[in-house]
Amino acid sequence: MTNTTGGWDATTLLDAANIICTGLGDDLVRFNASGAEEVERIRHLLKPDMVVLDFGGGIGRVARHLAPLVKAVIVFDVSSAMLNFGREWCQQQDNVFFHLCDSEPRLPLLQPGTLRHQLEFDLIVSHMTFYHLYHDTGNYDAWMDEMWRVLKPGGLFRYDVDIETKYPSVDDAKWLVLERKRLPGWNGHPGDYWLLQKSGGD
Ligand SMILES: C[S@@+](CC[C@H](N)C(=O)[O-])C[C@H]1O[C@@H](n2cnc3c(N)ncnc32)[C@H](O)[C@@H]1O
Repeated sequence: MTNTTGGWDATTLLDAANIICTGLGDDLVRFNASGAEEVERIRHLLKPDMVVLDFGGGIGRVARHLAPLVKAVIVFDVSSAMLNFGREWCQQQDNVFFHLCDSEPRLPLLQPGTLRHQLEFDLIVSHMTFYHLYHDTGNYDAWMDEMWRVLKPGGLFRYDVDIETKYPSVDDAKWLVLERKRLPGWNGHPGDYWLLQKSGGD
């Protein structure tokens, strides 16, 4: 496994919240409410039988609010510190599962057969993570392809990028662009929110 955490290794829950969301981290109530707001924006997409991947899900700011509305939420993150604080903070949500992943664009091939190891998702959400892949790693396109690979046919991918991420590539042989909106709420700044649907390929 290639795992470089790139500065995401928090030392306390509040530290984690601060690293994730500059400006809200000192106030866990507001930090938590910001996760609920993200889920309100996609509530119309959610169904009780959905298995959702929260990619780069951190400490579960969004996952904990998705949990009551879907079958399961699988959080993948590159930072084991984030995941550990997430397990602690989300212990009331028994359908949220935290898994470590590579910093390279391949999600671990877990064994099929149990819910927590499911690897074909109905919906992927990814907040404030793809901008980092775009600006810092050079792996943006490969991660887009990896999201495509682990989605069910017709599955949805909702993600956001900062507005400096001007030309995120969307391969139109693979994705149908259902929505692109500029919204507030991205660390206090506007962000571009995309909703894609898996369309092509095998
Ligand atoms: C700004 S935080 C956002 C956390 C969470 N999505 C939220 O909105 O609260 C970015 C997260 O992406 C994770 N991350 C960064 N690079 C990653 C990668 N290559 N694979 C998986 N997670 C990654 C970090 O560890 C961190 O938890």
